Amino acid sequence: MYQMLDPATLRVLVTGGTSGIGAAAARRFVEAGAHVVATGRRADRLIALRDELGPRLHPLEVDVRDQAALSAALAGLPEPFARLNVVFANAGLALGLEPAQRASLKDWDDMVDTNIKGLLYTVEATLPGMVERGEGHIVFTGSIAGDYPYPGGNAYGATKAFVKQFSLNLMADLVGTGVRTTNIEPGMVETEFSLVRFHGDESRSGQVYAGTQSLTAEDIAEQVLFCCSVPRHVQINRLQVFPTCQAFNAFRIQRD
Ligand SMILES: NC(=O)c1ccc[n+]([C@@H]2O[C@H](COP(=O)([O-])OP(=O)(O)OC[C@H]3O[C@@H](n4cnc5c(N)ncnc54)[C@H](OP(=O)(O)O)[C@@H]3O)[C@@H](O)[C@H]2O)c1
Repeated sequence: MYQMLDPATLRVLVTGGTSGIGAAAARRFVEAGAHVVATGRRADRLIALRDELGPRLHPLEVDVRDQAALSAALAGLPEPFARLNVVFANAGLALGLEPAQRASLKDWDDMVDTNIKGLLYTVEATLPGMVERGEGHIVFTGSIAGDYPYPGGNAYGATKAFVKQFSLNLMADLVGTGVRTTNIEPGMVETEFSLVRFHGDESRSGQVYAGTQSLTAEDIAEQVLFCCSVPRHVQINRLQVFPTCQAFNAFRIQRD
């Protein structure tokens, strides 16, 4: 019989565990027997998750943009959470869908600070320990937006292109260390993503998913668990997951 890793051996950090894909992944890993540290800025959500999932879920309120706080929090993890062997660097957001010439510089800054710099801080705080222990896995939440451009995707898509290339470059650095990398690249997933993108405008965010069978956060969580459970000699470096109702668009041509 094919031997998958026992999820009970996994000690997982999930950034962005308060909502959507991260919360679903925290639930799925705990259900499978893993220990999970879930982070986010909303403490009430983390406490609710701890109440729901029990002592194998360790809540950690921290903003990934705060390098000093993140580094200190991860350095001070209690046993049995301390020796992480899976880091799911998932926290991220899109802000705005305006064309670049009308986009907000603050939105661009927030996306770069979270999706790029926060992700780098997460890796910086956890990678040396995994390399030292000769075992680990970093999973990123990239996006199809890192491969395929769309109108209004400007800085968001560019941050996800960064995530993809950083993941591939890490793989180049980490060969031989026992630490593997995976970039999960979802298409449309129904979460709070669009509500955040449209700054809390529920009618606009609802339109994104109306009439579709979008991916669910649980669909992606299942793929993350799968990638982390394949035997250690197997490395899924990129995994693109679309809902069946979504595909590519034609090139746009402006005619006179
Ligand atoms: N939904 C989609 O269609 C889709 C498609 C492709 C990729 N993605 C990517 O999937 C990831 C998860 O998004 P989601 O769809 O699950 O959206 P979501 O429901 O809005 O969840 C986003 C998570 O990121 C956390 N987060 C945001 N900024 C943070 C910060 N500064 N510090 C710490 N945590 C922060 C949020 O927690 P707090 O607000 O509590 O801090 C929340 O837990 C993102 O990287 C997103 O780009 C989403």
